[in-house]
Formats: sequence, structure tokens, C-alpha cells
Amino acid sequence: MATQLNLEELVQDSRVHRRIYLEPEIFELEMDRIFERNWVFIGHDSEVAEPGDYKTLTIGTQPAILTRDEDGEVHVLMNRCMHRASTICQEHRGNSSYFRCWYHGWTYNNKGELIGMPYARGYGSHFDRAKFALIKAARVERYRGMVFASLNAEVDPLADYLAAAKYYIDLFMDLSPAGAVEARCGTHKYGYDGNWKFQMENGVDGYHPNFVHQSFFEVQGKTLGRRVMRLFTENSSYESKDLGNGHSILDMSSKRPRQNRPVRNILRGATSQASTDVYMDSLLKRYGPDRTSEILGASNVNLAIFPNLLIIGIQFRTVIPVNATRTDIHLAPTTLKGVPEEINVARIRAHEAFYGPSGGGAPDDVEMFNRCTDGLRVKGAEWLELSRGLEREQITEDGIRVAHITDETPQRAFYYRWKELMCGMAAANKVRRLPSAGNF
Ligand SMILES: [Fe+2]
Repeated sequence: MATQLNLEELVQDSRVHRRIYLEPEIFELEMDRIFERNWVFIGHDSEVAEPGDYKTLTIGTQPAILTRDEDGEVHVLMNRCMHRASTICQEHRGNSSYFRCWYHGWTYNNKGELIGMPYARGYGSHFDRAKFALIKAARVERYRGMVFASLNAEVDPLADYLAAAKYYIDLFMDLSPAGAVEARCGTHKYGYDGNWKFQMENGVDGYHPNFVHQSFFEVQGKTLGRRVMRLFTENSSYESKDLGNGHSILDMSSKRPRQNRPVRNILRGATSQASTDVYMDSLLKRYGPDRTSEILGASNVNLAIFPNLLIIGIQFRTVIPVNATRTDIHLAPTTLKGVPEEINVARIRAHEAFYGPSGGGAPDDVEMFNRCTDGLRVKGAEWLELSRGLEREQITEDGIRVAHITDETPQRAFYYRWKELMCGMAAANKVRRLPSAGNF
């Protein structure tokens, strides 16, 4: 049995114990202390853009439904009939004003109110339908169209929780001259036989790409002349950052952004000059030259929002814990509002090349998660090492912990937060300022 004392010992400053990836008791505590007491990413406004739109999801392992009612309000309802517990909605997404449980026909509107039961006379005159409304998430808040929910009414405001990650979310959204993305292209879904934390670690791991994705990068080099591997070498000037509250980023912002180069990065050379010009003009008009350069320079994004969201490339990637050694992944690619269609087509084609079940890169990561899970079963080696870059991390005046892009700062950021929430305590390293000896 995982005791409080054990948990503290299992996650240390620069290493974590293999048990945290394997044990069902620890997984259950994670669902309770991390997923059910804090903010989790639910989806994007645009996924339920129209009245009646809905999408099913989970909060931890609890099934839920994101709905938009006829008044335009968004609700996060628990997907559980208040009669005999059946889930009431089975589709991933759709449009409906009502949810009718298939078991005995109890019917709810998309606000969660019980509006009818078959043969209602059997319940007598004192039956109060209002007491049988669907359970709602205690809190729902949005940031730049991203919907977060919490089952804990006392959770801190979303804006406080997102902390320094807001700056990078803004950059992602501002790639649109209308300041908004849409996630209405559908969803890639896949899973792996391994713990959910592997995907959260990997999405901001700048050490692995040149090895796991070597073949993809080599093909890209030959076909498009892109030398992606330079981003992730020892000589790279890019950084990894701990943004607070478990969030982190691989910051690949161009240090000296030039207007043409970043645009090529986004579009992968797949759009006409005319479309590129229209897009550039609209960005400049909305944001001015300095902010436009900043936005385009940061268009290569790997951002982790604790505990269950990665913003990678153009996608929202939701990590769905199933059990200690099973995880589902949903990738929702986004398009930019207010740009020529050709620009969005190019974004989606570039996304498809790497991500999704038939992409050139994402399946390689999944294979690593499977292999790690197999390797974890070796009992002679108890620890996973996360110390890379520990000695050369620096802390900025804003309190952001910064290191080289190949350093394991994002993974340590994740586990500082994990330990805070799981053990009710800060990891020792979090409050210790390291000597800024780093040169990278
Ligand atoms: Fe990867």
C-alpha cells in the first residue's frame, strides 16, 4: 500500500521511483489529489461552437460531457444517469438538446436538468426532479477559448493556476489575426500500455527528438531541406523553462526573428506567396511589427499545462489516464481564424506528417512509452534519472527556472507539482536557488 511517507520518498529532486508508473494505489491517489481537486483541460470553445453541441471527455477517470445549451452557456456535466448510474452519452461529439439514458429512458436537457422519466406516476407525488439533475463540475472557467473544469469548488482562479504559461498560450492564439484558433478538424485518438505521466514528460522533452525521431528528421531534411535536428543538439540556443505550477515549455523562440524565416517555419513552404502575403499583412495590421515578429518567432511550440494538456505544434493534446499502465491520447489540431484557407490547409498537412496514428513521429514516442513500461518491471533498478541540467539551471527575475532545451527541467517541474499535490509539500529543490553556473 502506498503510504504518505512512501510517496515523499518516491519522487526526489532529480529522480523518480518506478513504482509511480506501475502501482494502482498511486494511480488512484493521483486521480483524487491531482485530477479531481485541481483544474483540468476539458476542450476548446470551438469544439462546442453551436447550441446543442457536445463532447464527451473524462475528468481523471470520471466520464463527463461538455455541452453548449440553447442560451450559449457552456456546461460540464458528469456523464452518469442519476437513476441507475449508466452513462447517458456514448458519442465522442455531436449535437443534441437532450440526453436520454438507454437503460430506463430518463431524459436530461443539455443544462443537466432531468426533464422526464417513463411511467412517471410510479414515483409518486413527492418525487422531486430537481434533486436528480446531472452532477456538474464545481467550477468551469475559460482562457482564450480553452475550457478548464474542476471538481473542487475551492480551487484557485484559473488565471492564477495558469501562471506564466498564459504568455505562451497568448502567443499560440495570436498566430491568428483574429486572436483565436478553432479545433473543429476532428480528433486523432490513440493509446498506449503505459502510465499517463510518460506522455506528459515526453511532450516537453527536448533530449529525445534526435534519437526517437531521427528517421523522420532525416526524411524531412532530404525532402524539404529542413535541418530540424539542429534544434535539439548540445549547441542549440533554445531553452527549456519551468513556468510554475507544473507547467513547462521548450522555448524555441527565434532570438533574432526575421519575418520570412518564421513564416516558412509555420507553413513548411506549402503555401503560395499570395496567401503568405495576405496572412502577413493581416498580422501586421492587428499586432504591429514587433508583436508580429514575436508571435511568428514562437510558432514552434511544445507547452505542457499540468496535469493533462500539451499544446504541441498546432494541436491540443489531451492526456487521458485510464489506469496505472494504460493511457489514451486525443489530438485536436487547430486552424487559425481569419486567415486564407491555404494557410490552414498547410498547417494541417504539416501536422499530419508527424502526428496522429499514421504520422511519421508520434508512433515512435508511443513505442518508447511501451518499452519504458516493459523496462520498469526490472526490479534491480528502482529509479528513473531526471537530473540532466540540474547544475546549470538558472532562475530569472520572474522566478522562471531556465535551462538548455535538452535539459530535464520540464520533467522536474512536473514532479515538483506532483509532489506538492500528492504529498501536500514542496519538493526541497523547488525553493532552493541553484548557482547560476550554467553556460549552454
Ligand atoms: Fe517525440
